[in-house]
Amino acid sequence: MEKERVHKTQVLVIPLPVQGHINPMLQFSKRLASKGLKVTMVTAFSNNEAMETQENSIEFEPISDRLEESNNIENMVKWFQSQASKRLPELIVNQENHGYPISCLVYDSAMPWILDLAKGLGIFGASFFTHSCAVASIYYNLHQGLLKVPLEEPLVSLAGLPSLKAHDLPSFVYDPGSYPSFLKLVISRFSNITEANWIFFSSFDGLEKEVISWMRTLWPIKTIGPTIPSIYLDKRLKEDTDYGFGCFNPNTDTCMKWLDSKEEASVVYISFGSMADLGKEQMEELAEGLKMIKNNFLWVIRGSEMEKLPSKFLEETSVKGLVLNWCPQLEVLAHRSTGCFVTHCGWNSTLEAVSLGVPMVVMPQWTDQTTNAKFVSDVWNVGLRVEVNQNGIVPKEEIELCIREVMQGERGKGIKRNSVKWRELAKEAVDEGGTSDKNIEEFVAQLLCKPC
Ligand code: UDX
Repeated sequence: MEKERVHKTQVLVIPLPVQGHINPMLQFSKRLASKGLKVTMVTAFSNNEAMETQENSIEFEPISDRLEESNNIENMVKWFQSQASKRLPELIVNQENHGYPISCLVYDSAMPWILDLAKGLGIFGASFFTHSCAVASIYYNLHQGLLKVPLEEPLVSLAGLPSLKAHDLPSFVYDPGSYPSFLKLVISRFSNITEANWIFFSSFDGLEKEVISWMRTLWPIKTIGPTIPSIYLDKRLKEDTDYGFGCFNPNTDTCMKWLDSKEEASVVYISFGSMADLGKEQMEELAEGLKMIKNNFLWVIRGSEMEKLPSKFLEETSVKGLVLNWCPQLEVLAHRSTGCFVTHCGWNSTLEAVSLGVPMVVMPQWTDQTTNAKFVSDVWNVGLRVEVNQNGIVPKEEIELCIREVMQGERGKGIKRNSVKWRELAKEAVDEGGTSDKNIEEFVAQLLCKPC
């Protein structure tokens, strides 16, 4: 009887259709489904092949049969809003008619208008933050006028956070003129937040203790991360895989065979996520730096970025290097051969590396990555942050030095010890009875109790 009731309770999960937002919300959806809820995830367009072959615990509903052809995120966000604001109400009525009323919209915090829609339809609304609590608290301080841009002081002190220099803050804050509309977007998350029935964070309590405690003085937030399938946290590789789905196709076989052939903790993995766009000069320095290291390396360069590579790089490094357009990152980070991750510090990559115990060299590019990098290098001590020269470039010598330090140096030893500690804490959080697991259980129980 109880089981039937659980299955009839449905949530709609609505991420912004970009990889860094889809991944954590998809993993959260699967955890909700594993607790007995019916979960439907709203996608931008119909990519049935990827969805049907890789997922069966949740359902997918496209809002369109094609994705807006635009490289511009702002336009894509506008397009998504115009499609979703028409399609979501239809979808909700349709599900109700089929006997699966929707109890709650779990929406990407970047789309606060969905909460208004939920309230208008008499449905619960839960805001999901795909970045860290630290970053959210900085944006909240801006929203409240407690932090002002342009910055007035060289050091910023905010409740629950370490002192932050300008370049430890998100780029939209230290350089507010660069993406004014994004700055507006990230702040708008708080416009109606007090109306949300739940607020979720893709993080875990132990990782951001102080800032989470502070935030709980404002709202009863729930951490539900790390949003990584347990198979990776348990290191039970080869028994199962769970790549998720998204906007890119991983070169899985080539990648895993190559990693299998390498020695334990010997490989440097380099990736800058789904959006970061390195300048040509920076790509060349990175390429030269990788030529200088003694280790094998696996470098993910998205197709659109390949032309920035120095012309002979692939031939010159073919013995020790493998370059791919996309890889199954969780598999790579969980692989025994991976010893270090050179990353742009997107929140998902950061959380994945922390949770899988992989030491990092961090090269933040923009948005929240600078703040994540500060925590990696100075708070959790699980990586080194590269220094940028006066021209805004990280030179090859610096890249080589940081990788050498992490892989073979004295500082690397401490970093490796800390990485193991954080990996264990991450696993504890999502294991049965852990803080994140309990938060998810509580949400499911509350949803079942609340009258629709
Ligand atoms: C964006 C922002 O840049 C980031 O700062 C913000 O916190 C979230 O949204 P993105 O740049 O793509 O995301 O970086 P990240 O957050 O690290 O997400 C990338 C995701 O793609 C990760 O889950 C990673 O596992 C996956 N990935 C990346 C792959 O599966 N294969 C790859 O080859 C590279």
